Amino acid sequence: KEDVYILAIESSCDETAASVVKNGREVLSNVISTQIDLHTLYGGVVPEIASRKHMEKINQVIEEALSQAQMGLTDMNAVAVTYGPGLVGALLVGVAEAKAISYAAKLPLIGVHHIEGHVSANYIENKELEPPFLCLIVSGGHTHLVLVKEYGTYEIIGRTHDDAAGEAYDKVARAIGLGYPGGPKIDKLAKEGKKNAIVFPRASIEGCPFDFSFSGVKSAVLNYINSSTMKGEAINRADIAASFQEAVVDVLISHTMAAAKEYGMKKIAIAGGVASNSALRSAMEEACKKNQFEFYHPTPLFCTDNAAMIGAAAYYEYLKGNFSGLDLNAVPNLKI
Ligand code: KG4
Ligand code: ZN
Repeated sequence: KEDVYILAIESSCDETAASVVKNGREVLSNVISTQIDLHTLYGGVVPEIASRKHMEKINQVIEEALSQAQMGLTDMNAVAVTYGPGLVGALLVGVAEAKAISYAAKLPLIGVHHIEGHVSANYIENKELEPPFLCLIVSGGHTHLVLVKEYGTYEIIGRTHDDAAGEAYDKVARAIGLGYPGGPKIDKLAKEGKKNAIVFPRASIEGCPFDFSFSGVKSAVLNYINSSTMKGEAINRADIAASFQEAVVDVLISHTMAAAKEYGMKKIAIAGGVASNSALRSAMEEACKKNQFEFYHPTPLFCTDNAAMIGAAAYYEYLKGNFSGLDLNAVPNLKI
């Protein structure tokens, strides 16, 4: 069988990224130009700034990815790009670039769903992982429990009714003055706090045992801060971070375990930016061990946005001959 090399591009939010991936699982290069410092000034991602920065960086990032892989466009079998979901202006930069490359270098074009990319990050370091498995997807915009039935075939069995897990992390971080992006900062500060210092609510949705709701825990944290301030009591930010994180992780783990049992899944994977959270990773590891499930997780670098995961997802589309036309467009609210 011939080797397949894919040049993958990702620009859905605030990272401009390109990667060369061999046979869907071997990352030959993984270049990420992050805009975080720029957006930190505004306390969150500013869409227009994101698009402009992608424009500025994208060529350089792609050249770097090819040169680190010691390859050229003529060595590639396809060019893949995230076409949704994400910020429309940001997505368009990657999509237009990939279309130009596809046309000029006569390479098949593969439009990839960003969240399928996150799931596929698990294939990179777990060479033996194959569907079916259950995947908990926790990112800045998504919280889903998904059955990965085959490569590229998914069934969503649980979703959030309001905030995504990462969104809750970011909002709580802002409330305790940690700034953007909040997830990694809460993760770090929580290590210095007591996770049972404050009891924050663990929400369940009646009739939907695998669905999530994080707006309640977020509001509970805000109320706790307000009432402490009004009473003139000093707040312990590390305790808040640890207790909030405990509440979120608790729900994520219990719903995932219940779903795995309900659907008879023995393999559990995690994906998305929040999957790099140290508390979630260790709690999931422990829960899987206890229930005799196999636990798969990408290294933290492949949990947050990157293009290698897009190349991994694209490979299975390549094998199926699922190519996109040059009319590929950005779809900001693309469904999985
Ligand atoms: O997957 P991602 O990089 O982008 C999206 O597709 O949304 O996820 C970003 C989210 C942000 O909300 C960020 O705060 C969160 O992932 N995040 C974390 C950690 N690292 C990133 N949340 C908790 N703990 C972390 N270590
Ligand atoms: Zn993402």
